Amino acid sequence: MSDLAAPHILALTAYEPGKPEDELRRELGLEDIVKLASNENPYGPSPKAVAAVSGETLALHRYPDPRGHHLREALGAHHRVSAAEICLGNGSNEIIDLICRVCAGRGEHAVFGHPSFPCYRIGSIAQELRFTAVPLREHLYWNVDDLLAAVTDETKLLFVSNPNNPTGAYIGRTDLARLLRELPGRVLAVVDEAYVEYVDADDFAPATELRDTRERLAILRTFSKAYGLAGLRVGYVIGTTDLVTHLNRLRAPFNVSTPGQAAAAVALGDQAHLRETVTATVEDRAKLTTALEAFGLRVAPSQANFVLVDVGRPGRAVYEALLQEGVIVRPMPPPLDHWLRVTVGRPGENQRFLDSLERVLRESRA
Ligand SMILES: Cc1ncc(COP(=O)(O)O)c(C=O)c1O
Repeated sequence: MSDLAAPHILALTAYEPGKPEDELRRELGLEDIVKLASNENPYGPSPKAVAAVSGETLALHRYPDPRGHHLREALGAHHRVSAAEICLGNGSNEIIDLICRVCAGRGEHAVFGHPSFPCYRIGSIAQELRFTAVPLREHLYWNVDDLLAAVTDETKLLFVSNPNNPTGAYIGRTDLARLLRELPGRVLAVVDEAYVEYVDADDFAPATELRDTRERLAILRTFSKAYGLAGLRVGYVIGTTDLVTHLNRLRAPFNVSTPGQAAAAVALGDQAHLRETVTATVEDRAKLTTALEAFGLRVAPSQANFVLVDVGRPGRAVYEALLQEGVIVRPMPPPLDHWLRVTVGRPGENQRFLDSLERVLRESRA
């Protein structure tokens, strides 16, 4: 075995991203491809945000604002917090990694759900943390008591994705408030709200409304999903000024690009575009769910911009067959290896997926 990488890094499985359209185009020579694999906003960002990065006003020969002043001020006003309680990241992914590096030391313990977003595990392993991946009920649903039961005297971090990627399940207001209250004060609770804009459940509360329940609380948000800016890599965390000060000790200099900062600030100001695209996706999430159920398939109830569907046979084979049709979805590792995660696309993209899936399932039965 190579000793080039440290042993705990050799034990890591790299994050498997959704297949890029261009890669499938190169591999299969297909032109007409539908990508429903990375939970992006199929309508794209606010046109005003696009205009903000294509203008000649950005001094691209200069480094970006290292503190992201304007964007943090805009976010502070949006969330009614001070800019000093916000730290920007190169995507919220960078913040997850930063939190693992800054807030826990080797041998300390992290808790997260399983299945959930793989980067909590990757960040923990990279820091040589011990961790407990708490099984979700029926592999799908959060249970706050299960999370609390996994906390030990060494636990420093607890990650919850709310709503959860890849299951779409959420923790409601009462349960989240209880989790945040009952977690020992030592633990930093990280509530990852990458999909929060898509939630329409009445009993949901964003963690921004529960900040008075505990001091050690980090709320992650991103511009990659509903704001449609995945290509620019901008995320952020809302926490105490103390947390932000500590994260800044290790945050890479100039971690968010000038176009990223500019576009995010403009996108934040265009809430009408956000609402319009989110409303369309939430409506289409229901239609996609109904259509899949009409095939006789089980769909996990989702509060995000994707659905998880049980295809009743190895999901990877169905995924591969869909690729041949030019449709990219996301196969799941065990215990969800009979499920596929499908981003809610534009209506025509969803229909193309449904038609292809129907063909693939029919042929695999024959
Ligand atoms: C739950 C969750 N958190 C964080 C991220 C990372 O998003 P980004 O780094 O693009 O902000 C993702 C991306 O898929 C996600 O699903």
